Amino acid sequence: MNTEGLRNKSSAEEENNININIMVNGQSYSLAVHPAYRLVDILRNDLGLTGTKISCEIGRCGACSVVMDGNLVNACLVMAYQVDNQVIETIEQVAIETIHPIQQAFLEEGALQCGYCTPGMVIALKSLLDKNNHPTEEEVLDYLSGNLCRCTGYNGILRAVQRYKNESLSIHKFKL
Ligand code: FES
Ligand code: FES
Repeated sequence: MNTEGLRNKSSAEEENNININIMVNGQSYSLAVHPAYRLVDILRNDLGLTGTKISCEIGRCGACSVVMDGNLVNACLVMAYQVDNQVIETIEQVAIETIHPIQQAFLEEGALQCGYCTPGMVIALKSLLDKNNHPTEEEVLDYLSGNLCRCTGYNGILRAVQRYKNESLSIHKFKL
């Protein structure tokens, strides 16, 4: 969907805007948005959070992955009215204070791919690791089944998850 036209709304169209309250990355927002807006439009156009990418726009690629109320979703498929009173976490929140260990593991294992797929891959993995800190390879691949890359493959990503698991185990042992 070309949303540029939606930004230049006439006053008549603005009257049709819907009001939503949304918490994104720990900050609350009250917004009046076009009813045809999707979550990805709100994030990128209204909040300036362009780390969430738009690619296929039909829920196939995972470039627009975000966490909504604890669940990984495709922001291109979530309409504005569906995000009212929801809590959203985007890729910007993943490294808000310091680089996340899974991002560090990506760096060390050369798992970084292009700027379109990588943010979605990282937030998807963080979402998985928040729930299950030691997923099997099958669980990782299953969780990433909605995040597509046809360029490089997934070996670097699997190595990064393994490194993350090894390092979190050694941190755990050290704490003991
Ligand atoms: S842009 Fe949302 S899944 Fe591809
Ligand atoms: S889509 Fe990003 S490297 Fe393939």
